[in-house]
Amino acid sequence: MSNQVRLFCILNDGGNMENIENIKQETLQAIATAADMKTLEEIRVAVLGKKGRVTELMKGLGALSIEAKKEMGKSLNILKGEIEKALEGQKEVLEAKELNARLQSEKIDVTLPVRPENQGRIHPVSKIYEEVVAIFGEMGFEVAEGPDIEDQFHNFNALNMPANHPARQMQDTFYIPNPESADFDDSFVVRTHTSPVQIRTMEKNKLPIRIIAPGRTYRSDYDATHTPMFHQVEGLVIDKNITMAHLKGCLYDFVKAFFELDEIPVRYRPSYFPFTEPSAEMDIGCKKSKTELKIGAGTDWLEILGCGMVHPNVLKAGGIDPDEYQGFAFGVGIDRLAMLKYGIPDLRTFFESDVRWLKHYGFVPLDESSMTGGLSNNGGLAR
Ligand code: DAH
Repeated sequence: MSNQVRLFCILNDGGNMENIENIKQETLQAIATAADMKTLEEIRVAVLGKKGRVTELMKGLGALSIEAKKEMGKSLNILKGEIEKALEGQKEVLEAKELNARLQSEKIDVTLPVRPENQGRIHPVSKIYEEVVAIFGEMGFEVAEGPDIEDQFHNFNALNMPANHPARQMQDTFYIPNPESADFDDSFVVRTHTSPVQIRTMEKNKLPIRIIAPGRTYRSDYDATHTPMFHQVEGLVIDKNITMAHLKGCLYDFVKAFFELDEIPVRYRPSYFPFTEPSAEMDIGCKKSKTELKIGAGTDWLEILGCGMVHPNVLKAGGIDPDEYQGFAFGVGIDRLAMLKYGIPDLRTFFESDVRWLKHYGFVPLDESSMTGGLSNNGGLAR
């Protein structure tokens, strides 16, 4: 307790008007000069606490005559109100003072230049993610998400792959036992692709739908172009009168924007995916040599993504009437896009957390990808 408060506490009060005036003067004076919140609280306790000066006077009211009680009671209540108001006012003053002191001491100079040698790097996967979101965002797509741990309904059945469907073997699935059921069909999976987000979006969103779903995917596979965890981005458009022409136009615009080229040869090869009919794979024109891969020119082709018109069974599984609505979908490997665009030869190195690798292949954090400000920022790697 500060000396100021101690002195103030030992003053002996008697219950008369003169004393009330004294208490008022002293208390308001003490409050106005309280330098911190602790002192302020001590003053409050000394005056209004259980054994405080005003509280004690109030306790003594019972012994007074009715007339005196009335008068004293009224004055004490007014005094109490004034003290509370003063405490509140000083509290605000002190809080503002404390905040200002903190703001002063925690001040940072945002105009200081960054030190390049200390700067972190954005991982190529994050960079491609940003680029893809920027391109489709510009086209009016929303970003949708789904869980990494999926049930088999969303990962397979609803995507037109019932149990025992041969297409399930196309993907080396990691299964997770279901603690509540011994039935294998009830076990969970870590999603083998981002396609289950198609179903989750159909279940949740209003029509029409225009989403991309970037995220992690998992398969039991490991070599220079496969890792057990990898990244995909799913695309889904559902509306009335959607045709393959919309799919082709949309994906053509995407690859041009993504590879930052004005023109790029593309072709669609018929393919098979259980969840699309018809299905296709999209290739882009390139020139392959022993040492180089040049995208956008030459007579070679490079497979870039899978796509197709959403199968009527998939629409039905998502609660949508296929006679009224149609859609197209596509799936792209984000890591593969990063390898192609930034010339990274081995996928496994992406996930080794080697800072030297990140320094070499990573990107400057403040160079954000946007369609107006530049996608990959002149294709320049941060070296
Ligand atoms: N889910 C497929 C895979 O992981 C990729 C894919 C192909 C997604 C065609 C699609 C699609 O939406 O239409 O191999």
